[in-house]
Amino acid sequence: MSEEKKTFYLTTPIYYPSGNMHIGHTYTTVAADTMVRFKKMTGYDAYFLTGTDEHGQKIERNAREAGITPKEYVDPIVKTTKELWKLMNVEYDDFIRTSEDRHVKAVQKIFRQFYDQGDIYKSAYEGQYCAQCEAFWTPTQLKEGNVCPDCGRPTETVQEESYFFKMSKYQDWMIDYIHEHPEFIQPQSRANEMINNFLKPGLQDLCVSRTSVKWGVPVDFDPRHTVYVWIDALSNYITALGYTSEDDSLFKKYWPADVHLVGKEIVRFHTIYWPIMLHALGLPLPKQVFAHGWLLFGNDKMSKSKGNVQYAQPIVRRYGADALRYYLMREMPFGADGNYTNEAFLTRMNADLCNDLGNLVSRTAAMIEKYFGGKAPAHSEWQEPDLKLIAIAEALPGMVEKQMNALQFSQALTEIWKLVGECNKYIDITQPWVLGKSEDQKERLGTVLYVLAECVRFISALIRPFMPSTPDRINAQLGITQDLTTWDSLKTFGALPAGTQVKKGEALYPRIDVAKEAAELAEEALAFAGVPAQKPAQEVKEDKKPQAKEQPKQDMPEGCIGFDDFTKCKMVVAKVVTCEKVQKSDKLLKFDLDIGTEHRTVLSGIAKYYQPEELIGKSLILLANLKPRKIMGVLSEGMLLSAITETDGVETLRLLTVDSVMPAGSEVG
Ligand code: ME8
Ligand code: MG
Repeated sequence: MSEEKKTFYLTTPIYYPSGNMHIGHTYTTVAADTMVRFKKMTGYDAYFLTGTDEHGQKIERNAREAGITPKEYVDPIVKTTKELWKLMNVEYDDFIRTSEDRHVKAVQKIFRQFYDQGDIYKSAYEGQYCAQCEAFWTPTQLKEGNVCPDCGRPTETVQEESYFFKMSKYQDWMIDYIHEHPEFIQPQSRANEMINNFLKPGLQDLCVSRTSVKWGVPVDFDPRHTVYVWIDALSNYITALGYTSEDDSLFKKYWPADVHLVGKEIVRFHTIYWPIMLHALGLPLPKQVFAHGWLLFGNDKMSKSKGNVQYAQPIVRRYGADALRYYLMREMPFGADGNYTNEAFLTRMNADLCNDLGNLVSRTAAMIEKYFGGKAPAHSEWQEPDLKLIAIAEALPGMVEKQMNALQFSQALTEIWKLVGECNKYIDITQPWVLGKSEDQKERLGTVLYVLAECVRFISALIRPFMPSTPDRINAQLGITQDLTTWDSLKTFGALPAGTQVKKGEALYPRIDVAKEAAELAEEALAFAGVPAQKPAQEVKEDKKPQAKEQPKQDMPEGCIGFDDFTKCKMVVAKVVTCEKVQKSDKLLKFDLDIGTEHRTVLSGIAKYYQPEELIGKSLILLANLKPRKIMGVLSEGMLLSAITETDGVETLRLLTVDSVMPAGSEVG
């Protein structure tokens, strides 16, 4: 019998299907997929779990507002999520939905065990809850005005009978565990944060059931209660493996997890509550929880609920999954925050994929075609520059493995691209086109081109976990077969047989015009997000009488206005000082806006789209010289600009905002 492979179990968070997944979720999922592909390549029996976290107050509420059941609400989002992972070339082994029977049953058993062994007791909860984060907060943790310390949204007061988990009982054990296992929480700075901010000040017992939330796993011995969504969600990592079910062979094989990949905002749940739950169940803890940083939008975290998002689909439709996967894994060190911008993405595509990699492959294939009739030449003795390059190639698999084991995806790619860069330099130094001029240099030319072809083989094999389809296109040109792309095949430099058929193909990544592509991509991204064009907010529709008389000029196409007409619109940056619902109106929000020189009162018919609290402090764009008009007895002095769209009868509206660095009153135009 063959030796059993070492196992590797990796998970992503299970995402809330409260809206469609954006490139933040794509980021984690691609990182997980890349890691698992790498582990499989290096001989592991790797298992990759992802899924959706479907219960809880937030989704229950979204569904109610949409007038459908929670299940009807999440089903299409889950479907789109699975399609997105397919589009991204993500190959998970299992996708768990917390609404599935296999999960619900297991959570009920887990909850009952906690209760039976005295870890859970019944009492009454009174305190603040953030439905956005599905988190309870104590008075000392809350920010001023009972605002959630994590997401900054107002919390709500909850008063109900609840079950509580005795977290306090495990506090000291947890602190010791973190100290004794420095690899458990990565990066290390997060471990200090957990100890200093949450464990040292004292762990409170956790409220673990709700009577006011119906969309959840019912507590089977007290069905008025549903299980708190985080207890429900965290359990997925073991319920998906069949924990407590008749067939728990996967659980036996893969638990404990090697890595839980999570965004930094949910480290607390994964490194305090989850370990304590597992400990109480008598189970081993995951070997590592790795917290990566955020993809930001301006200075803000991209988020489904804020709507400041970029989706993967429009990017992938234009440039393919590999290009986006490469960018996400390359651009920011894993653990740090970073920005996605179309310009940065497209610039990197040109530089790294078109110039560096694409040119190397096409030059190598073209020269073998030109000088050796498309047959890979044999090599003769190595010379100085060959040996230098070969040494880099031979050391590369080990370097990549080291970086990958530390989840340093961008470092691993940096190492691979060092070889790409060295190859291009090698071409400049050895000047094959000069060698090609004289027949007595043919042998040397053959050696140079052979070295290049071998390096390309190494590169092609090593980028596959990151870019699963690009290597096939490279291999087709270089005549590299399957068995020459395995991890083992990288132990030998020189495995490519002479005489291999080489055929230059299409450019891997054609050069693009960044400015033009960025503009087109931005437009497609807006259309995909359902925001096709900027139109004034709703309430102005009625009084859209033009302020200035329209004077068609002879040399202007129909429907155009002159620049002079445009400059008549005085638009300024307006900071929201206060914002509240207008009594007896379900449409209107009333703003107090700071526009630098004065304050303005403005009414806007956007109550359907925003909670007043979330707008406070935002920098919006105000059309300031619109004739004031009375609405419901209040004088509205200007109009806030927004974009609105309608897809399948659902309207989406977003106010135009500007970076907070712009002072109130800044001119827009
Ligand atoms: O928290 N940048 O679900 P969620 C980077 N259901 N990563 C991001 C991101 C961004 N801007 N936005 C989202 C939940 N992510 C819970 C998890 S697990 C038992 C339950 C990624 O839909 C990142 O991995 O809010 C983050 O932790 C996760 O999506 C949050 O997804
Ligand atoms: Mg979140």
